[in-house]
Amino acid sequence: MITFITGNKHKVEEAKKIFHNFNIELEHIDLGYPELQGELEDVAISGAKYASSKLRKPVIVEDAGLFIRALNGFPGVYSSYVQETIGNSSILKLMEDIDDRYAEFRSVIGYCTPKTEPKTFLGRVKGQIAFQEKGDKGFAFDPLFYVEEKDKTFAELSIEEKNQFSHRRNSLEIFINWYKESSID
Ligand code: IMP
Repeated sequence: MITFITGNKHKVEEAKKIFHNFNIELEHIDLGYPELQGELEDVAISGAKYASSKLRKPVIVEDAGLFIRALNGFPGVYSSYVQETIGNSSILKLMEDIDDRYAEFRSVIGYCTPKTEPKTFLGRVKGQIAFQEKGDKGFAFDPLFYVEEKDKTFAELSIEEKNQFSHRRNSLEIFINWYKESSID
């Protein structure tokens, strides 16, 4: 069993289904940990270290962000703050006259046990910033994130569909493969 530390119920819902497909049980604890400002990897490392020493067990945490190429990677590591303050409509406004719509979501999983140093696992997914919000599923930036192959935004996909190729699916799959391999004696 793996313990996922997060306060985000959407992340839990997605992660539970992903772990289920890999036959691993996922426990969820909303512990709350200090989120330092920094690269996704640094936030994941410090969060995982904090939670595993506090709970005295192995944990994973996740730090994610939306990186828009035409805005030099903004909001990137500032994604939560931007989401809570100016929100999706302001991102659309910033992108109003911009032709290059390329963006990617990145997800970094931090894994740590009380006896080992933290490790990180990066997953990414490529997409485009839509011209308007679309869809009512998902959360946060999902209505903005258009995926050409599906001709849909993340917010128009079911969790199962999003889980087939999302940044979170990719980071968790890399983690799970490593975890399964490293647990074999
Ligand atoms: P966090 O710091 O990892 O929670 O994520 C940074 C910001 O990106 C938060 O506002 C999240 O809600 C948002 N975010 C993270 N993952 C996703 C996603 O899969 N879809 C849409 N927004 C996301």
